[in-house]
Amino acid sequence: MVRPGVTGSMRVLFLSTSGHLGGAERVLVDMVRATVDSGGTAGVLTVEDGPLTEAASKVGGDILPLPIPRGFGRAGESQASLATMAAMAASAAPLLSYSRRLTATIQSWQPHVVHSNGIKMHVLSARAASPPLVWHLHDYVGPRRVSRRLLRHYADRPALIAANSEDVARDAAQALGRNDIAVLPNAVDLAHFTPAGARADLDALAGLPPADVVRVGLVATYARWKGHDTFIRALAQLTPGLPIRGYIVGSPVYRSTAAQVRVDALRSLALSMGVSAHLGFVPFQSNPAPVYRALDIVVHASTAPEPFGLVVAEAMACGRAVVATRLGGVAEVADDDVASIHTAGDAQDLARAIERCARDERMRAALGIAARARAEQRFSPVGFAEGLDRLHREAIRRSGVAA
Ligand code: GLC
Repeated sequence: MVRPGVTGSMRVLFLSTSGHLGGAERVLVDMVRATVDSGGTAGVLTVEDGPLTEAASKVGGDILPLPIPRGFGRAGESQASLATMAAMAASAAPLLSYSRRLTATIQSWQPHVVHSNGIKMHVLSARAASPPLVWHLHDYVGPRRVSRRLLRHYADRPALIAANSEDVARDAAQALGRNDIAVLPNAVDLAHFTPAGARADLDALAGLPPADVVRVGLVATYARWKGHDTFIRALAQLTPGLPIRGYIVGSPVYRSTAAQVRVDALRSLALSMGVSAHLGFVPFQSNPAPVYRALDIVVHASTAPEPFGLVVAEAMACGRAVVATRLGGVAEVADDDVASIHTAGDAQDLARAIERCARDERMRAALGIAARARAEQRFSPVGFAEGLDRLHREAIRRSGVAA
């Protein structure tokens, strides 16, 4: 078994299910940076080439590409029956060979800790012979029938399971039958996500003419539960004639297609609601800070409990007025003191919150100042790096290796 050196510098191999840059992958980049900055070495095993590869290697990660069998990458909760997934996980030949290659890659890279960052990787990593294993949960497991069964089956394999919020940890404890889930809240790079700095030209990006308006935007992946339609319906309920323009920023970034909304469906909803002229679609931006700064109001409208809400935390660090829900882990990120809270899925309530902020510039400024102060207290990368290191050392300790 490999041990960290006397200087304590860690060799951590991170495993990612996606090559894109959704919230979980952006946290992975933060973890690579934290590991490298503390004198350790970070490997990133990715299943596909994509923006994650570039971002992780930029901060010093050693990239190990290991493409995943096609069917497995696409399977989502609603696409595969439990039997299919179980068969894939247990016996499908491409998957067996993938597990073998995963084991070989892990062994040859010689990490002190393997840190898995996505549900499919949790299953694969549990099946691979490996050093101390950490599962990092960015999503609720309980409501996902297939994942819950699979993860519960392997739940005794990881030395440690961490969650991105207290709420996700509570859900995991119940779903997986373990009462020792650790909590590692995400951090935000407070020197990058700042109130001052470059602003994106959202109108140009969306192909709209320039205008003197209050800019209100939903920044999210295209997962169904992110509330794009609530946002569009809310725009339709604003007092007519108010100088407000809405923006939907993002793209479908994950491989499983059934769980994502399509941009043409959103466009036709906007058309049928009569808000097309006041709504811009901006494709995924790999650097979101200038996008937040270009918005006067950042909207979080998830209709299901949000595991953490990185977008909310980043927008707060950029000193924006945020309109958020209070469902799930996002309640640990924002409250009435730093954001305007609305009821999840309630377009009328969201419209009310947007309109109040849009009409009151002083309120927006006050919320922005409070939000930045809260971000500085709560989302410090230094605290995150310490928490991550503690987590890895604890995983090693539990596996019976001296750290
Ligand atoms: C997932 C969650 C999101 C969280 C992110 C990073 O994308 O849906 O709430 O912020 O992971 O942990």
